[in-house]
Amino acid sequence: MAMGSVVCLGFLLLMLLQPQVMGFANSGPWQEFLRLPSDGTKWALLIAGSNGYDNYRHQADVCHAYQIMKKGGLKDQNIVVMMYDDIAYNPSNPRKGDYTGNNVNKKNFLAVLLGKKSALTGTGNGKVISSGPNDNDKRAAGGFKNLVIYVEACESGSIFQGLLPSNIGVYAMTASNATESSWATYCSTPGYTTCLGDLFSVTWMEDADLRKHGETIGQQYAIVKKRTTASNVLVFGDLRIGSQPLNNYYLAAHTSETTTESATNFGVINQRDAQLVYLWRNYEESGEGTGEKAEAWERLLREMERRSRVDRSVELVGDLLLGVSGSSKLMIRRPAGEALVDDWDCLKSMVSTFEAHCGPLGQYGMKHLRAFANMCNADVDHHAMDIAASKACMHHVIS
Ligand SMILES: *[C@@H]1O[C@H](CO)[C@@H](O)[C@H](O)[C@H]1NC(C)=O
Repeated sequence: MAMGSVVCLGFLLLMLLQPQVMGFANSGPWQEFLRLPSDGTKWALLIAGSNGYDNYRHQADVCHAYQIMKKGGLKDQNIVVMMYDDIAYNPSNPRKGDYTGNNVNKKNFLAVLLGKKSALTGTGNGKVISSGPNDNDKRAAGGFKNLVIYVEACESGSIFQGLLPSNIGVYAMTASNATESSWATYCSTPGYTTCLGDLFSVTWMEDADLRKHGETIGQQYAIVKKRTTASNVLVFGDLRIGSQPLNNYYLAAHTSETTTESATNFGVINQRDAQLVYLWRNYEESGEGTGEKAEAWERLLREMERRSRVDRSVELVGDLLLGVSGSSKLMIRRPAGEALVDDWDCLKSMVSTFEAHCGPLGQYGMKHLRAFANMCNADVDHHAMDIAASKACMHHVIS
């Protein structure tokens, strides 16, 4: 299963860097990250979490980032690209991904990140983040790198909020806070029915393209936050990393050209609506009275119906579980600083039980994850969910 259908994930960049030994007493689930190689090599892992022409922009973001990494002096063997690679004739596609198609999945993502060649599945090229044959020893020695992460996704703040410790050398910048969408941009380029970039990603990458001498990560954050007007760009983790220059990570040491800031005012579209806009444009642009136009209209209607079926099913399950008055609790947002859910296994099992009866949530349906999380937070019984979902979806399974 492609990652895009697992989480509402657009584009993810992990920059792995800089040996640094730190104290990591209670790093809990992040322990795995501590075993990254530590020979001072700069690594980048670029992931587009979606497929399909309507999601063109996520793979375009990855291609843009790849160019930045190359210009910044990273070697090809240290850039790992995971993208579906189904955008035929994409002129900006610099190369095939290292992992493509259904090999872009969470198992391979972890295997690449943790340098576990043996855990890879499918037909990727086997490239993993590691420093050579001795990396196991190096890991055992406790060497550690800093990690800078950029995440473009709806509600991306929820990935780190209340979860990422501040003492393990990881710094994460997200496109949005835990409760809002992130935004697509470059949506009305002549000749394209689809959006070509994502607002947050385009903003940090256009800043990186300027290659400002000595710019720090924190300075970039301030600029990106200001220019990303449609959502709240946030940072999490070890904020001290913000004082480090970008060239520790991905800009070449001697960058000089400083161009003036672009003053583009971005037109934006909510990530979740980008697909509808794409379907609408296809309808609009196909010839009057053709079979193509009728088909495009059908596809648009089907998607809209599917969305309302997803919404109705989740609402009905909530009503059955908590009563009409209680189900309003499902929309509650926990205070900033608290994780979306305390029991992640509960969340996974709630969703899979729902999907077993009602059909897949899909990309759009991911917006209801908070409701499922709140069922867990309210100690809804797994068996009760099973019964509620089977009743709610007896007659209208999402297809
Ligand atoms: C997150 O963003 C939304 C919408 O932009 C805003 O209403 C909300 O207050 C923000 N939440 C936090 C915790 O900042």
